[in-house]
Amino acid sequence: MKKVKLGLLGLGTVGSGVLKVLRQNAAMIKRREGLDIDVGWVLVRDKAKKRSVEIDPSVLTTDAQAILNDPEVDLIAEFMGGEEPAFTYIRQALRNGKSVVTANKEVIAKHWHELEPEAEKSGAGLYFEASVAGGIPIIKTIKRSLQANHILKFMGIINGTTNYILTRMSEEGSDFQTVLKDAQRLGYAEPDPTADIEGLDAKFKLSILSTICFRNMVPLEHVFCEGITRVTAEDITYARQLGYGIKLLAIAKKNGNRIEARVHPTFIPLTHPLCAVRDSYNAIFLEGDAVGSLMFYGRGAGDLPTASAVVSDIITACQNEGGHHHRTGMDEGEVIFERNWISRYYVRMLVCDRPGVLGEIAGLFGKNGVSLESVIQTTRGDDASLIFITHEAQEQSMMKALEDMRGCDVISSIESVIRVER
Ligand code: NAP
Ligand code: HSE
Repeated sequence: MKKVKLGLLGLGTVGSGVLKVLRQNAAMIKRREGLDIDVGWVLVRDKAKKRSVEIDPSVLTTDAQAILNDPEVDLIAEFMGGEEPAFTYIRQALRNGKSVVTANKEVIAKHWHELEPEAEKSGAGLYFEASVAGGIPIIKTIKRSLQANHILKFMGIINGTTNYILTRMSEEGSDFQTVLKDAQRLGYAEPDPTADIEGLDAKFKLSILSTICFRNMVPLEHVFCEGITRVTAEDITYARQLGYGIKLLAIAKKNGNRIEARVHPTFIPLTHPLCAVRDSYNAIFLEGDAVGSLMFYGRGAGDLPTASAVVSDIITACQNEGGHHHRTGMDEGEVIFERNWISRYYVRMLVCDRPGVLGEIAGLFGKNGVSLESVIQTTRGDDASLIFITHEAQEQSMMKALEDMRGCDVISSIESVIRVER
């Protein structure tokens, strides 16, 4: 039996879930894994705060250095969230030779390139399964079970909060702010939920996942990102009429040395399996050159699902004798990050209802090389709503067409532009 002393940084949703799992499955972990795991310290901001788990008050501390410099602490598990001071604490722990398990996608997406060499230098391990897709074991699977493949593309729902919000908006007609509050109460949302609804959380995860899949660093500045704050009830209704649902999708493709990575609300057919992914669930479709298509599905947020991934990393870290770090090997060669990808588009606009308007607008699409698949018109007084679905077009052609339309006096406003995947 190996005795292990843990230092936990954070005791919110994830930290409490980790304590629950370590306690409820302690006997099993001892029996099957040969590990006797003791939580020696827990870092919090406020020791007096009421917790959702029982905790011996003498274990709680507000002094990070007491944990990071305690020679008896073998491993640090971080779930404080945010970039700082989490990054500084993780780096210090690695420099002190302590392996680190983290759920912090912001720190990994921004500082992986600095943390991995620190881990390698000291021989400590750096594990972050919980940083992407909550309870779905996607990182270990790609690193340890799909090494025989070139991964060519993947597409998925990797933010639980926005999927929960879009599900309730489309199924119950619920109001955005009310549903966001419910997502916060259920522990799905980030400490600052702007990161969820503006797509930033999914952007961090997409940067990490595409780096692991493509074995090329995909830095945040090369990940296109648009959140769900501009998706309206009207768009959800039109989408349904047209046979689509709206999801916040993360899409990444590698073609030769070109990589595209993007997060945005997307129309997907109601019959597509991703459309059936509801509430806080996540799902990822992935395509490898040997294995073909794979799909992963599970809870993407919440205390126990996330704790499942964290505790698995803790066990792996304890069992890697001497904490030897498994570096994520990167491919050599220069990569070009693609911005001019191909997509279909849904465009909704308010226009003056008079002869020739539809032809004028169709002409602006055509002039920029964007061909139309379908048009719906609904009239309200002197105005009309026009809803277009385009054929496949280049992103830059589409943006140029929209720019031309903004200067066109028959268009009162372009209300929505949402990409469409089949
Ligand atoms: P949370 O509920 O807000 O908990 C954060 C914890 O960290 C709290 O216990 C807080 O202490 C402590 N903390 C924060 N800043 C601190 C500081 N400067 N010094 C000391 N303690 C500090 O957050 P969470 O939802 O558990 O998320 C934590 C991390 O896990 C984030 O990186 C998040 O992205 C990631 N994650 C979350 C989920 C999820 O479903 N929630 C899933 C996967 C990954 P007090 O309690 O005293 O305020
Ligand atoms: N806020 C995140 C989400 C937590 O909603 O997916 C899981 O990473």
